[in-house]
Amino acid sequence: MKLLAMMLLLLAPAAALADESAAQADKDAINIFNSTCGWCHQGNGRVAGGIGPKLMDSQRSDEFIVNRIKNGKEGAMPAFGAQFNDAQIQALLRYIRNLKPEK
Ligand code: HEC
Repeated sequence: MKLLAMMLLLLAPAAALADESAAQADKDAINIFNSTCGWCHQGNGRVAGGIGPKLMDSQRSDEFIVNRIKNGKEGAMPAFGAQFNDAQIQALLRYIRNLKPEK
C-alpha cells in the first residue's frame, strides 16, 4: 500500500508535465498555423478557395495528414518535417481535427 502511494507520487508530476506540454503544443499549433499555414489554407483552414484546400472536416486519415505536413507535395505545398518536431506536428493534426465553423 505504501509502495503504491509512493509510486503514484512519483508518477503524478510526470503526468502533469505531459499535460502541460500538450496544452502548450496546442497553443503553439494555433500560432504555427496562423503564421505558416494560414496564408495558403484560408479562414485558418476552414474554407476552400485559397492556394491550399479546406482542412476542416477532412476525410483524410491521420497518417495522410501527418505525412502531408512532414513531406509536403512537390509543386503544391512545402515540407515541414525539418521545421517542426513530432509533438508540433501532432498538435497541428489535433488543430485540424478540432476545426469548427466560425460563429
Ligand atoms: C504554399 C502554400 C501552402 C502552405 C504554406 C501550406 N500548405 Fe498545406 N497544402 C497546400 C496545397 C496546394 C495542398 C494540396 C496538395 C495536393 O494537391 O494534394 C495542401 C494540402 C494540405 C493537406 C492535405 C489536405 C488534403 O485533404 O489533401 C494538409 C493536412 C495540409 N496541407 C496542412 C498544412 C499545414 C498544417 C501547413 C502549415 C504547417 C500547411 N499545410 C502549409 C498548400 C500549402
